[in-house]
Amino acid sequence: RMSLLRSASQHLRRRRDYSSASASPERKVAILGAAGGIGQPLALLMKLNPLVSSLSLYDIAATPGVAADVSHINTRALVKGFVGDDQLGEALEGADLVIIPAGVPRKPGMTRDDLFKINAGIVKGLCTAIARHCPNALVNMISNPVNSTVPIAAEVFKKAGTYDEKKLFGVTTLDVVRAKTFYAGKANVPVTGVNVPVVGGHAGITILPLFSQATPASNALSHEDLLALTKRTQDGGTEVVEAKAGKGSATLSMAYAGAVFGDACLKGLNGVPDIVECSFVQSTVTELPFFASKVRLGKSGVEEVMGLGELSAYIERFTLELMQFLFGRFFVASKPGCAAG
Ligand code: NAI
Repeated sequence: RMSLLRSASQHLRRRRDYSSASASPERKVAILGAAGGIGQPLALLMKLNPLVSSLSLYDIAATPGVAADVSHINTRALVKGFVGDDQLGEALEGADLVIIPAGVPRKPGMTRDDLFKINAGIVKGLCTAIARHCPNALVNMISNPVNSTVPIAAEVFKKAGTYDEKKLFGVTTLDVVRAKTFYAGKANVPVTGVNVPVVGGHAGITILPLFSQATPASNALSHEDLLALTKRTQDGGTEVVEAKAGKGSATLSMAYAGAVFGDACLKGLNGVPDIVECSFVQSTVTELPFFASKVRLGKSGVEEVMGLGELSAYIERFTLELMQFLFGRFFVASKPGCAAG
């Protein structure tokens, strides 16, 4: 009788596991700027994500083709393409997660600040529509300069009365992806198990990888190695811009990073415990109003903005102080909320 009971309970457990996997809730994801260099591979990667039940691809041009193409892939998400202002509302209606890679990318010689004027206007328009059509969605901002587009989005949402600081994220995952790759190469460890928190912002000196907290720890790295790794992570975007020689900035690695962060947001929404990623969010970790650090994701977005931990390397303490000094001056000199770059 015992063995009969055991096999019955094993059978039930298997059924429960199966039904919980198949009962992954309906989740609509909208990508704004879906026909672009980042948007297309990001659409592909989100189509491969089994947590997505509906994938809405929006751009000002060329989305019907991208949507038709991606829609033939035999995975769960139903894909629809939307093009132009008239269809933006429908693209957003009912979205749980909106990912925004819309805008112009950097060309050689351009800084992220040069992008500001054009992309600020694009982001403002898109966030106004989000406030109207899916005010409860999580928003993943990829459009640069993230240090500024996130505060702009916050202002738009505040004006519309829909701002929830738990739901607005600047995507800094590419900095983490780069830091992991570069660290694994230098420390000569398999990259798969590597973790490196990256804090601060998402431009040059404001990108602060905490290699002293990297796991697995490495004793093999000198002060010079840490300096070189920090600088390479901070200049990772420029490395790609220069290598592409006028043909845009990071798209494939960014799409990967965007898909990793989007997946983490969906898992959080679905109640999966212990989902932690770095992101640029409203923060009290430093005196700066928005700051990237580790964030615990949950059913309503940000569940906890985690602290910095111990900054044991000199370069980390120095960079953080310099960043606060520079940002602090900027915030004093400009209107609050229209933040830095
Ligand atoms: P892209 O020019 O290839 O694509 C941008 C797309 O946005 C185009 O398809 C364009 O039609 C679309 N677009 C323009 N205005 C729009 C609007 N009002 N509504 C919807 N779509 C609109 O550029 P790419 O390479 O895909 O880069 C996109 C953005 O991502 C840039 O701002 C770039 O700087 C940023 N980026 C951010 C990174 C990050 O780590 N957060 C890394 C790399 C790029």
